[in-house]
This record gives sequence, C-alpha cells and structure tokens, in this order.
Amino acid sequence: MIAPGPAAIPAFDAARVRRDFPILGQQVNGQPLVYLDNAATTQKPDSVIEAIDSYYRCDNANVHRGVHTLSDRATQRFEQARQSVADFIGSPATSQVIWTSGTTAAINLVAYSWGHSRLRSGDRILVSWLEHHSNIVPWQLVAAATGAEVVPVPVTDEGEIDLSALDTLLDERVKLVAVNHVSNALGTVNPVREIARRAHAAGALVLVDGAQSVAHWPVDVAALDCDFYTFSGHKLFGPTGIGVLWGREALLDAMPPFLGGGEMIEQVAFSASTFNSLPFKFEAGTPNIAGAIGLGAAVEYLAGIDRQGAAAHEAALLQRTLELAEQVQGLRRIGHPRHAAGIFSFLLEGMHPSDLGMLLDQQGIAVRTGHHCAQPLMARFGIPGTVRASYSIYNTQEDVSRLFEGIHKAQRLFA
Ligand code: ALA
Repeated sequence: MIAPGPAAIPAFDAARVRRDFPILGQQVNGQPLVYLDNAATTQKPDSVIEAIDSYYRCDNANVHRGVHTLSDRATQRFEQARQSVADFIGSPATSQVIWTSGTTAAINLVAYSWGHSRLRSGDRILVSWLEHHSNIVPWQLVAAATGAEVVPVPVTDEGEIDLSALDTLLDERVKLVAVNHVSNALGTVNPVREIARRAHAAGALVLVDGAQSVAHWPVDVAALDCDFYTFSGHKLFGPTGIGVLWGREALLDAMPPFLGGGEMIEQVAFSASTFNSLPFKFEAGTPNIAGAIGLGAAVEYLAGIDRQGAAAHEAALLQRTLELAEQVQGLRRIGHPRHAAGIFSFLLEGMHPSDLGMLLDQQGIAVRTGHHCAQPLMARFGIPGTVRASYSIYNTQEDVSRLFEGIHKAQRLFA
C-alpha cells in the first residue's frame, strides 16, 4: 500500500478565497465593497475569527503560569501558534520567534535593546528613503541617546534603493542597515538578500521590515540571510496587536532585555535579577494570547492555499492596473520600480488625493490617501501624498475594473 502524501493544495482561485472572508460580502454606500486598502490592514478569514472566538469561549487562561487545565490548553495553543509562525518564515528555531505587538514594537525592541547596548558616538545606522516612519524614528531616538547617526540611503526616480549609493555609504562606521522588504508607499520590492550580502561584507547587521511582504509570497528568513526580520499579524490576515520579531539566535541571546516584568525573569532578588531564555526574555507581562492564536490560524490558512498562484494572481492585478492607468488622462504613477508588490500609488492632476479617496468611497471603493507614514519619501518626490490602491489574495479583476470606473467617474464629477 502506498502511504498518502501531504494533502494537495488546490490551485489558486481568488473567487473561492474571497468567500473565506466574510466582511467582503457587504455593500458600502449602496455598492458591493471593493477593498483596496490591504497595505494598511488585511481582512480576516473565517478560520482566524473562529480561532479567536474558540479561544475565548473554551480555553481562555493565562499562559506559562498555571497548573490547571485551561492554562495548559491556552499555553499549548499559544506555543503551537509560535511553531506555525516559525515554520511559515523558515526559522531554524521556534525560540527565535518573539511575539511583539506589531512591526513597530519589533523595530523599537531592536533599537532599544541592541541599539542602546551596541551603538557608540560616531556609529552609523543606514535607513533607506523608502522607509515607513516606524523604521526611521526608533533609530533617531536611539541615535540621540547614543551619539550615533542615522544616514539615509537615496532612492532613484524609479523608487528603488540606489545600490551604488549604498555601497558608497557602507564603511566601518555603519553598524546596521534597516530597510523594508516592500515599500508600503510605492510597492517597491527591495533586493534584501543582496543588501544583506553587501552590508555583511562591510561588517554591518541588517534589519528587514517585512510588514508589506509576508502576505504576498513565501518568505524564508534563513535564505534572505538577514539578522532581524519584523512583521505584523494584521497585515497577514491575522488580528491587530500581534506581530513578530525574528532574529539570529546568537544576537538575540546577547541582547539585554527590553521590557522588564513577569515571565521574562529567571530569578528576582533585590540584589540582582537574572533573565529567562529566548524567546521569553523579550516577552514581559501577559502576552496577546488570542492575537498569537489568531496569527497562528492566519499562517495555517495561508499554508492551505497555493501561494505561488496567489502571487501570480496579484501580479496580474497590478499588470492590469498599469494598463488601465495608461488610459487615464492626468494620472501620474509615483515610482516605477522594476519589481513591485501589489501596490499602486498615484496622483490625478487637479485633484487632491483625499478628494479622490472620498469620491471612491462613495462608490464603495476603499483606498488609502496621504503620506502613508513615509514623509521623507513624499518629500523626495516633491508631493504631499498619493492615492494608494493595494491588492491582496482576495481581490479580483472585477475590483480593478471598478477602481478605474470610479476614477473616471470622479474625474467627470470634478471636471
Ligand atoms: N503602515 C500601514 C500603511 O501603509 C498602516 O497603510
């Protein structure tokens, strides 16, 4: 008898996937909802909502603390979620997956713990002009406290990191390079493996903000060869208030705790306290148990879909978007990266981004407008903000058509 292999993953079918997301079935302002604000937050499949619901209905208790059955069940679900996330990103060990409240908290953890203990006056941290404020400001805060300097790496007119400028900046003063995997504002996919290779050759560490990448294709932290990788649950079909810091074991081990409190200790005495092992050293206080369980359910949901097919589907949506954009008079795409995730940032001549955003909303189409928490990047392009449509696995070609019908209608109303 032949042993059954792993269950086959069905070929990607966006319409089928869409039915897993109950919120998408509604009407907004009298029109079927077209949700194109996925870079801000993704919607949640039934399985994630049910995992959170069942945790609170059946298993709610504190983790790692109780001898009773509910605490044991909660701990098992919480740690199973960590294992699922470790598998999802190719982490060599589960202990390298640190729960945080999101990408912002994960970057701040590294900035405070690693940064305060390692940076000295004259040291440099390189961040690209493409960064979200959450990958700029924590470094500015630690630089102000240590005397280190935050130096921006220029981006080209296409909206890509200028790798030759990076090479020029990479000298012995640079201790860390912090870049996003995908720009939240332009969709640029950065060559983070290549950036890591160059940074390591110069003796610097690399932190990758993966908030905008993990939902779009399989990420393998070991293959990327970065030192830290961060992401948020809510942009990955999971709940808000949960995220992950992944780090190299030796680095995390050597870093001092960030927050002090319960769970992160080994022994507490007034003379001195000692600290728990990884990952608990960085998880002071009662964690977001339901959030972790919800995120675990989200990555398990993704494990059941054809992710290569999903990535190809999103690429087709962006391709169609770019074709339709050519036909709109006065539309200016911001950035023309060679490799882009499903994010389309643009301006319409004569119309403020927020006016267009509101006119689209009246037609049931949700987009984000503004500076996208990337003010240096907006300044680089000499604009106050953009209109941003961002795609996910459940968007369809019909959604793309509705976006452009909406844009044409808004233009007629404004004419
Ligand atoms: N960082 C999120 C965005 O780009 C909120 O919309």
